[in-house]
Amino acid sequence: MRTYTFPLDLVRERSPERPVALVRPRSVSVAARWFQDNLKADVFYAVKANPSAWVIQTLVDAGVTGFDVASLAEIELVRSVSADARLAFMHPVKSRSAITRAYFDHGVRTFSLDCEDELQKILDATGGADDLNLLVRMAVSADGAAYSLSGKFGVSTDQAPALLLATRRAVKEGLMGVCFHVGSQCMRPSAYEAAMAQVGRAIKKAGVFVDIVDVGGGFPSVYPGMVPPDMSEYADAIHRGFNEMPVSETTELWCEPGRALVAESSSILARVDLRKGDALYLNDGSYGSLFDATHSRWPFPTKLVRDGEASADLKPFQFYGPTCDSIDHMPGPFWLPADIREGDFIEIGMLGAYGVAMSTGFNGYGEHDIAAVEDAPMASLYGLAPRSIPTVRTTAEEQARKVVRLSRPKGKAGQRKKARR
Ligand SMILES: Cc1ncc(COP(=O)(O)O)c(C=O)c1O
Repeated sequence: MRTYTFPLDLVRERSPERPVALVRPRSVSVAARWFQDNLKADVFYAVKANPSAWVIQTLVDAGVTGFDVASLAEIELVRSVSADARLAFMHPVKSRSAITRAYFDHGVRTFSLDCEDELQKILDATGGADDLNLLVRMAVSADGAAYSLSGKFGVSTDQAPALLLATRRAVKEGLMGVCFHVGSQCMRPSAYEAAMAQVGRAIKKAGVFVDIVDVGGGFPSVYPGMVPPDMSEYADAIHRGFNEMPVSETTELWCEPGRALVAESSSILARVDLRKGDALYLNDGSYGSLFDATHSRWPFPTKLVRDGEASADLKPFQFYGPTCDSIDHMPGPFWLPADIREGDFIEIGMLGAYGVAMSTGFNGYGEHDIAAVEDAPMASLYGLAPRSIPTVRTTAEEQARKVVRLSRPKGKAGQRKKARR
Protein backbone atom coordinates (compact mmCIF):
# COMPACT_ATOMS: atom_id res chain seq x y z
CA MET A 1 0.00 0.00 0.00
CA ARG A 2 1.40 3.41 -0.96
CA THR A 3 1.64 6.04 1.78
CA TYR A 4 1.03 9.75 1.15
CA THR A 5 1.43 12.53 3.66
CA PHE A 6 -1.83 14.26 2.75
CA PRO A 7 -4.79 13.27 0.52
CA LEU A 8 -3.88 16.20 -1.77
CA ASP A 9 -0.52 14.56 -2.54
CA LEU A 10 -2.41 11.55 -3.89
CA VAL A 11 -4.76 13.71 -5.97
CA ARG A 12 -1.80 15.61 -7.45
CA GLU A 13 0.04 12.43 -8.35
CA ARG A 14 -2.79 10.13 -9.47
CA SER A 15 -6.01 12.06 -10.06
CA PRO A 16 -7.64 8.69 -9.25
CA GLU A 17 -10.34 7.26 -11.49
CA ARG A 18 -11.91 5.07 -8.79
CA PRO A 19 -12.82 6.10 -5.23
CA VAL A 20 -9.87 5.67 -2.86
CA ALA A 21 -10.10 4.44 0.74
CA LEU A 22 -7.67 6.69 2.60
CA VAL A 23 -6.52 4.72 5.62
CA ARG A 24 -4.69 5.76 8.78
CA PRO A 25 -3.38 2.57 10.40
CA ARG A 26 -1.91 4.46 13.36
CA SER A 27 -5.34 5.60 14.45
CA VAL A 28 -6.36 1.92 14.72
CA SER A 29 -3.32 1.17 16.90
CA VAL A 30 -4.07 4.18 19.11
CA ALA A 31 -7.70 3.08 19.57
CA ALA A 32 -6.57 -0.49 20.33
CA ARG A 33 -4.15 0.85 22.93
CA TRP A 34 -6.97 2.78 24.60
CA PHE A 35 -9.00 -0.43 25.03
CA GLN A 36 -5.98 -2.41 26.24
CA ASP A 37 -5.00 0.28 28.76
CA ASN A 38 -8.39 1.39 30.03
CA LEU A 39 -10.84 -1.48 29.93
CA LYS A 40 -10.01 -4.45 32.17
CA ALA A 41 -11.38 -6.78 29.51
CA ASP A 42 -10.11 -9.13 26.80
CA VAL A 43 -10.64 -7.39 23.45
CA PHE A 44 -12.23 -9.29 20.53
CA TYR A 45 -12.33 -6.99 17.50
CA ALA A 46 -15.68 -7.32 15.65
CA VAL A 47 -14.31 -8.01 12.18
CA LYS A 48 -17.59 -7.07 10.45
CA ALA A 49 -16.97 -3.37 11.16
CA ASN A 50 -14.03 -3.34 8.74
CA PRO A 51 -12.74 -6.64 7.37
CA SER A 52 -9.73 -5.14 5.56
CA ALA A 53 -6.54 -7.20 5.88
CA TRP A 54 -4.59 -4.06 6.89
CA VAL A 55 -6.94 -3.57 9.87
CA ILE A 56 -6.45 -7.16 11.07
CA GLN A 57 -2.68 -6.87 10.60
CA THR A 58 -2.54 -3.51 12.42
CA LEU A 59 -4.50 -4.92 15.35
CA VAL A 60 -2.32 -8.03 15.54
CA ASP A 61 0.78 -5.78 15.49
CA ALA A 62 -0.82 -3.71 18.29
CA GLY A 63 -1.16 -6.85 20.43
CA VAL A 64 -4.85 -7.61 19.90
CA THR A 65 -5.24 -11.38 19.92
CA GLY A 66 -9.04 -11.81 19.97
CA PHE A 67 -11.41 -11.51 17.00
CA ASP A 68 -15.20 -11.71 16.95
CA VAL A 69 -16.10 -13.39 13.67
CA ALA A 70 -19.54 -13.90 12.15
CA SER A 71 -18.84 -16.16 9.15
CA LEU A 72 -16.39 -18.67 7.71
CA ALA A 73 -15.07 -15.96 5.37
CA GLU A 74 -14.18 -13.77 8.37
CA ILE A 75 -12.55 -16.77 10.09
CA GLU A 76 -10.42 -17.50 7.01
CA LEU A 77 -9.48 -13.82 6.72
CA VAL A 78 -8.22 -13.60 10.31
CA ARG A 79 -6.44 -16.96 10.05
CA SER A 80 -4.66 -15.75 6.89
CA VAL A 81 -3.10 -12.98 9.00
CA SER A 82 -2.67 -14.74 12.33
CA ALA A 83 -2.45 -18.50 12.86
CA ASP A 84 -2.88 -18.21 16.62
CA ALA A 85 -5.56 -15.51 16.99
CA ARG A 86 -8.38 -16.38 19.43
CA LEU A 87 -11.54 -16.57 17.35
CA ALA A 88 -15.03 -16.23 18.85
CA PHE A 89 -17.86 -17.18 16.47
CA MET A 90 -20.40 -14.74 17.92
CA HIS A 91 -23.15 -14.98 15.34
CA PRO A 92 -26.05 -16.55 17.28
CA VAL A 93 -27.30 -18.44 14.17
CA LYS A 94 -24.75 -20.52 12.25
CA SER A 95 -25.03 -23.31 9.73
CA ARG A 96 -24.00 -26.80 10.84
CA SER A 97 -21.26 -26.92 8.23
CA ALA A 98 -19.88 -23.53 9.31
CA ILE A 99 -19.71 -24.72 12.93
CA THR A 100 -18.01 -27.99 11.92
CA ARG A 101 -15.43 -26.28 9.73
CA ALA A 102 -14.82 -23.53 12.31
CA TYR A 103 -14.19 -26.13 15.01
CA PHE A 104 -12.27 -28.81 13.10
CA ASP A 105 -10.43 -26.78 10.41
CA HIS A 106 -9.81 -23.46 12.13
CA GLY A 107 -9.55 -24.21 15.84
CA VAL A 108 -12.55 -22.11 16.88
CA ARG A 109 -13.68 -23.07 20.38
CA THR A 110 -15.98 -20.16 21.32
CA PHE A 111 -19.54 -19.94 20.02
CA SER A 112 -22.60 -17.88 20.97
CA LEU A 113 -26.22 -19.03 20.97
CA ASP A 114 -29.60 -17.67 21.97
CA CYS A 115 -31.84 -20.77 22.01
CA GLU A 116 -31.73 -24.49 22.84
CA ASP A 117 -31.90 -25.57 19.17
CA GLU A 118 -28.70 -23.64 18.42
CA LEU A 119 -27.06 -25.14 21.53
CA GLN A 120 -27.92 -28.63 20.30
CA LYS A 121 -26.72 -27.77 16.79
CA ILE A 122 -23.32 -26.66 18.11
CA LEU A 123 -22.96 -29.83 20.19
CA ASP A 124 -23.92 -32.07 17.23
CA ALA A 125 -21.75 -30.24 14.70
CA THR A 126 -18.67 -30.51 16.92
CA GLY A 127 -19.23 -34.18 17.75
CA GLY A 128 -20.08 -33.36 21.38
CA ALA A 129 -16.71 -31.67 21.91
CA ASP A 130 -15.66 -31.25 25.53
CA ASP A 131 -13.57 -28.11 25.05
CA LEU A 132 -16.27 -25.66 23.90
CA ASN A 133 -16.71 -22.17 25.34
CA LEU A 134 -20.41 -21.36 25.01
CA LEU A 135 -21.86 -17.88 25.49
CA VAL A 136 -25.57 -17.20 25.85
CA ARG A 137 -26.62 -14.04 24.02
CA MET A 138 -29.24 -12.09 25.97
CA ALA A 139 -31.53 -9.40 24.56
CA VAL A 140 -31.02 -6.10 26.37
CA SER A 141 -32.38 -2.60 25.96
CA ALA A 142 -30.92 -0.58 23.07
CA ASP A 143 -32.10 2.80 24.39
CA GLY A 144 -29.38 5.31 23.69
CA ALA A 145 -27.93 3.53 20.65
CA ALA A 146 -28.21 4.62 17.02
CA TYR A 147 -28.79 1.00 15.92
CA SER A 148 -30.63 -1.60 17.97
CA LEU A 149 -29.10 -5.07 17.76
CA SER A 150 -31.57 -6.81 20.07
CA GLY A 151 -34.52 -7.09 17.67
CA LYS A 152 -33.11 -10.08 15.82
CA PHE A 153 -31.02 -11.92 18.38
CA GLY A 154 -30.92 -12.55 22.10
CA VAL A 155 -32.92 -14.68 24.52
CA SER A 156 -35.51 -12.75 26.54
CA THR A 157 -35.04 -12.18 30.26
CA ASP A 158 -37.91 -14.61 30.99
CA GLN A 159 -36.43 -17.46 29.00
CA ALA A 160 -32.77 -16.76 29.83
CA PRO A 161 -32.54 -18.72 33.13
CA ALA A 162 -33.54 -22.04 31.48
CA LEU A 163 -31.07 -21.51 28.62
CA LEU A 164 -28.28 -20.50 31.00
CA LEU A 165 -28.86 -23.70 32.95
CA ALA A 166 -28.94 -25.90 29.83
CA THR A 167 -25.74 -24.26 28.53
CA ARG A 168 -23.97 -24.64 31.88
CA ARG A 169 -24.79 -28.37 31.78
CA ALA A 170 -23.55 -28.69 28.18
CA VAL A 171 -20.14 -27.13 28.90
CA LYS A 172 -17.59 -29.71 29.98
CA GLU A 173 -13.98 -28.56 30.16
CA GLY A 174 -14.50 -25.19 28.48
CA LEU A 175 -16.05 -21.99 29.78
CA MET A 176 -19.64 -20.83 29.99
CA GLY A 177 -20.57 -17.20 29.56
CA VAL A 178 -23.14 -14.54 28.83
CA CYS A 179 -23.01 -11.86 26.15
CA PHE A 180 -25.19 -9.04 24.88
CA HIS A 181 -25.09 -6.02 22.59
CA VAL A 182 -26.38 -2.64 23.80
CA GLY A 183 -26.79 -1.46 20.18
CA SER A 184 -24.27 0.18 17.89
CA GLN A 185 -23.11 3.78 18.39
CA CYS A 186 -24.27 3.70 22.01
CA MET A 187 -24.32 7.26 23.31
CA ARG A 188 -25.07 6.38 26.96
CA PRO A 189 -22.37 4.63 29.05
CA SER A 190 -25.05 3.77 31.64
CA ALA A 191 -26.62 1.42 29.03
CA TYR A 192 -23.82 -1.09 29.77
CA GLU A 193 -24.43 -0.91 33.51
CA ALA A 194 -28.18 -1.39 33.02
CA ALA A 195 -27.61 -4.37 30.70
CA MET A 196 -25.19 -5.96 33.17
CA ALA A 197 -27.75 -5.56 35.97
CA GLN A 198 -30.40 -7.23 33.78
CA VAL A 199 -28.05 -10.10 32.88
CA GLY A 200 -27.04 -10.39 36.54
CA ARG A 201 -30.67 -10.93 37.56
CA ALA A 202 -31.02 -13.78 35.03
CA ILE A 203 -27.79 -15.42 36.28
CA LYS A 204 -29.08 -15.22 39.88
CA LYS A 205 -32.42 -16.69 38.90
CA ALA A 206 -30.73 -19.55 37.03
CA GLY A 207 -28.35 -20.14 39.95
CA VAL A 208 -25.43 -20.84 37.60
CA PHE A 209 -21.74 -20.03 37.78
CA VAL A 210 -20.62 -17.87 34.86
CA ASP A 211 -17.00 -17.89 33.63
CA ILE A 212 -17.27 -15.05 31.07
CA VAL A 213 -19.22 -11.79 30.90
CA ASP A 214 -18.93 -10.36 27.39
CA VAL A 215 -20.26 -6.78 27.06
CA GLY A 216 -20.20 -6.92 23.24
CA GLY A 217 -19.69 -3.89 21.03
CA GLY A 218 -21.60 -0.62 20.84
CA PHE A 219 -18.73 1.71 21.77
CA PRO A 220 -19.27 4.90 19.77
CA SER A 221 -17.36 7.20 17.46
CA VAL A 222 -17.79 10.86 16.50
CA TYR A 223 -20.11 11.98 13.70
CA PRO A 224 -21.62 15.39 12.98
CA GLY A 225 -24.23 16.07 15.65
CA MET A 226 -23.13 13.02 17.66
CA VAL A 227 -20.38 13.66 20.17
CA PRO A 228 -20.35 10.84 22.71
CA PRO A 229 -19.28 11.15 26.34
CA ASP A 230 -15.60 10.62 27.12
CA MET A 231 -14.56 7.00 26.54
CA SER A 232 -13.43 6.76 30.18
CA GLU A 233 -17.12 7.00 31.18
CA TYR A 234 -17.78 3.77 29.24
CA ALA A 235 -14.93 2.00 31.01
CA ASP A 236 -16.12 3.26 34.42
CA ALA A 237 -19.72 2.15 33.78
CA ILE A 238 -18.61 -1.32 32.68
CA HIS A 239 -16.28 -1.78 35.66
CA ARG A 240 -19.05 -0.64 38.06
CA GLY A 241 -21.56 -2.96 36.36
CA PHE A 242 -19.14 -5.91 36.55
CA ASN A 243 -18.49 -5.32 40.26
CA GLU A 244 -22.22 -5.55 40.96
CA MET A 245 -22.73 -8.80 39.03
CA PRO A 246 -23.18 -12.16 40.80
CA VAL A 247 -19.90 -13.54 39.45
CA SER A 248 -16.64 -14.62 41.00
CA GLU A 249 -13.13 -13.22 41.00
CA THR A 250 -12.14 -15.68 38.31
CA THR A 251 -14.92 -14.58 35.92
CA GLU A 252 -13.41 -13.05 32.78
CA LEU A 253 -14.63 -9.76 31.29
CA TRP A 254 -14.66 -9.61 27.47
CA CYS A 255 -15.67 -6.95 24.94
CA GLU A 256 -16.19 -6.93 21.16
CA PRO A 257 -15.65 -3.37 19.89
CA GLY A 258 -16.03 -2.83 16.15
CA ARG A 259 -16.87 0.77 15.30
CA ALA A 260 -14.78 2.36 18.07
CA LEU A 261 -11.57 0.69 16.88
CA VAL A 262 -11.84 1.63 13.22
CA ALA A 263 -14.32 4.48 12.57
CA GLU A 264 -11.72 7.24 12.70
CA SER A 265 -9.23 5.38 10.59
CA SER A 266 -10.62 5.75 7.08
CA SER A 267 -12.13 8.28 4.74
CA ILE A 268 -13.19 8.00 1.14
CA LEU A 269 -11.76 10.17 -1.58
CA ALA A 270 -14.55 10.56 -4.14
CA ARG A 271 -14.70 12.55 -7.36
CA VAL A 272 -17.46 14.91 -8.49
CA ASP A 273 -18.63 13.66 -11.90
CA LEU A 274 -21.38 16.25 -12.34
CA ARG A 275 -22.87 19.20 -10.49
CA LYS A 276 -26.54 20.17 -10.85
CA GLY A 277 -27.22 23.10 -8.51
CA ASP A 278 -26.78 21.82 -4.96
CA ALA A 279 -26.59 18.17 -6.12
CA LEU A 280 -23.18 16.58 -6.60
CA TYR A 281 -23.00 13.28 -8.53
CA LEU A 282 -20.07 11.29 -7.10
CA ASN A 283 -18.23 8.11 -8.08
CA ASP A 284 -19.10 6.57 -4.66
CA GLY A 285 -22.50 6.21 -3.02
CA SER A 286 -24.89 4.18 -0.89
CA TYR A 287 -24.06 0.91 -2.70
CA GLY A 288 -20.40 1.78 -2.10
CA SER A 289 -19.04 3.18 1.16
CA LEU A 290 -21.86 5.58 1.99
CA PHE A 291 -24.60 3.20 3.20
CA ASP A 292 -25.13 5.13 6.44
CA ALA A 293 -25.24 8.48 4.64
CA THR A 294 -28.34 7.17 2.82
CA HIS A 295 -30.06 4.83 5.20
CA SER A 296 -29.35 6.68 8.46
CA ARG A 297 -29.00 10.09 6.78
CA TRP A 298 -25.69 10.67 8.56
CA PRO A 299 -24.09 13.89 7.23
CA PHE A 300 -20.49 12.66 7.30
CA PRO A 301 -17.84 15.41 7.46
CA THR A 302 -16.40 16.51 4.12
CA LYS A 303 -13.43 18.45 2.80
CA LEU A 304 -12.65 19.67 -0.68
CA VAL A 305 -9.27 18.29 -1.85
CA ARG A 306 -8.38 20.70 -4.67
CA ASP A 307 -4.99 21.79 -5.87
CA GLY A 308 -5.71 25.53 -5.91
CA GLU A 309 -7.93 28.24 -4.51
CA ALA A 310 -11.51 27.55 -3.46
CA SER A 311 -14.42 29.78 -2.60
CA ALA A 312 -14.46 30.93 1.03
CA ASP A 313 -18.22 30.63 0.99
CA LEU A 314 -19.47 27.22 2.22
CA LYS A 315 -22.78 25.87 0.99
CA PRO A 316 -24.87 22.77 1.85
CA PHE A 317 -24.84 20.04 -0.83
CA GLN A 318 -26.58 16.71 -1.32
CA PHE A 319 -24.85 13.77 -3.00
CA TYR A 320 -25.95 11.20 -5.55
CA GLY A 321 -23.95 7.99 -6.06
CA PRO A 322 -22.90 6.46 -9.39
CA THR A 323 -25.60 3.78 -9.77
CA CYS A 324 -28.90 4.24 -11.62
CA ASP A 325 -30.97 3.57 -8.49
CA SER A 326 -32.71 6.64 -7.08
CA ILE A 327 -32.11 5.29 -3.54
CA ASP A 328 -28.47 6.09 -4.24
CA HIS A 329 -28.95 9.53 -2.69
CA MET A 330 -27.28 11.03 0.36
CA PRO A 331 -29.23 14.05 1.60
CA GLY A 332 -26.48 15.43 3.87
CA PRO A 333 -26.29 18.37 4.13
CA PHE A 334 -22.58 18.22 3.24
CA TRP A 335 -20.91 21.62 3.58
CA LEU A 336 -18.44 22.41 0.81
CA PRO A 337 -17.09 25.49 -1.00
CA ALA A 338 -19.74 27.14 -3.15
CA ASP A 339 -17.62 26.89 -6.31
CA ILE A 340 -17.23 23.08 -6.21
CA ARG A 341 -17.32 21.65 -9.73
CA GLU A 342 -16.95 18.56 -11.90
CA GLY A 343 -13.53 16.97 -11.53
CA ASP A 344 -13.06 18.09 -7.91
CA PHE A 345 -12.17 15.52 -5.27
CA ILE A 346 -13.89 15.37 -1.89
CA GLU A 347 -12.66 13.60 1.24
CA ILE A 348 -15.56 12.12 3.21
CA GLY A 349 -14.41 11.30 6.73
CA MET A 350 -15.19 8.91 9.59
CA LEU A 351 -16.00 6.00 7.27
CA GLY A 352 -13.71 3.37 8.78
CA ALA A 353 -16.59 1.44 10.35
CA TYR A 354 -19.39 -0.03 8.25
CA GLY A 355 -18.21 2.09 5.29
CA VAL A 356 -15.98 0.19 2.87
CA ALA A 357 -17.30 -2.99 4.57
CA MET A 358 -20.77 -2.39 3.11
CA SER A 359 -19.64 -1.84 -0.48
CA THR A 360 -21.35 -3.85 -3.25
CA GLY A 361 -20.61 -4.25 -6.96
CA PHE A 362 -24.10 -3.09 -8.00
CA ASN A 363 -24.27 -1.58 -11.50
CA GLY A 364 -20.58 -2.33 -12.00
CA TYR A 365 -19.48 0.24 -9.40
CA GLY A 366 -18.08 -0.34 -5.93
CA GLU A 367 -14.45 -1.15 -6.63
CA HIS A 368 -12.06 1.20 -4.93
CA ASP A 369 -8.34 1.69 -4.46
CA ILE A 370 -6.61 1.97 -1.12
CA ALA A 371 -3.80 4.23 0.09
CA ALA A 372 -2.43 5.19 3.49
CA VAL A 373 -2.24 8.84 4.56
CA GLU A 374 -0.35 10.36 7.46
CA ASP A 375 -2.51 13.30 8.42
CA ALA A 376 -4.97 13.20 11.32
CA PRO A 377 -8.52 11.86 11.06
CA MET A 378 -11.29 14.47 10.91
CA ALA A 379 -12.22 13.84 14.56
CA SER A 380 -10.96 11.58 17.32
CA LEU A 381 -12.01 10.22 20.69
CA TYR A 382 -8.37 9.28 21.34
CA GLY A 383 -6.66 12.68 21.13
CA LEU A 384 -5.54 12.55 17.49
CA ALA A 385 -7.86 15.37 16.36
CA PRO A 386 -10.70 17.51 17.79
CA ARG A 387 -13.35 15.50 19.68
CA SER A 388 -16.21 16.92 17.68
CA ILE A 389 -17.07 17.92 14.16
CA PRO A 390 -18.80 21.28 13.92
CA THR A 391 -21.96 20.78 11.89
CA VAL A 392 -21.09 23.79 9.75
CA ARG A 393 -17.50 24.84 9.32
CA THR A 394 -16.59 28.17 7.80
CA THR A 395 -13.48 28.39 5.70
CA ALA A 396 -11.96 30.81 8.20
CA GLU A 397 -12.44 28.30 11.01
CA GLU A 398 -11.09 25.57 8.78
CA GLN A 399 -7.95 27.57 8.02
CA ALA A 400 -7.49 28.35 11.70
CA ARG A 401 -7.57 24.62 12.49
CA LYS A 402 -4.00 23.48 12.72
CA VAL A 403 -3.31 20.39 10.64
CA VAL A 404 -2.20 17.80 13.14
CA ARG A 405 0.21 15.41 11.54
CA LEU A 406 0.47 12.02 13.15
CA SER A 407 3.99 11.36 14.26
CA ARG A 408 5.70 8.57 12.40
CA PRO A 409 6.07 5.35 14.41
CA LYS A 410 9.49 5.11 15.93
CA GLY A 411 12.04 2.45 15.04
CA LYS A 412 12.29 0.23 12.01
CA ALA A 413 8.62 0.44 10.95
CA GLY A 414 8.88 4.23 10.74
CA GLN A 415 12.10 4.08 8.73
CA ARG A 416 10.59 1.58 6.30
CA LYS A 417 7.60 3.85 5.75
CA LYS A 418 9.85 6.82 5.17
CA ALA A 419 11.96 4.92 2.65
CA ARG A 420 8.91 3.82 0.67
CA ARG A 421 7.68 7.34 0.03
C1 LIG B 1 -22.09 -9.85 18.04
C2 LIG B 1 -21.55 -8.51 17.72
N1 LIG B 1 -20.47 -8.07 18.39
C3 LIG B 1 -19.90 -6.86 18.15
C4 LIG B 1 -20.42 -6.02 17.18
C5 LIG B 1 -19.74 -4.70 16.93
O1 LIG B 1 -20.54 -3.66 17.30
P1 LIG B 1 -20.01 -2.16 17.24
O2 LIG B 1 -19.47 -1.92 15.89
O3 LIG B 1 -21.21 -1.36 17.57
O4 LIG B 1 -18.95 -2.03 18.29
C6 LIG B 1 -21.56 -6.42 16.46
C7 LIG B 1 -22.14 -5.54 15.44
O5 LIG B 1 -23.07 -5.84 14.72
C8 LIG B 1 -22.14 -7.69 16.73
O6 LIG B 1 -23.21 -8.14 16.06
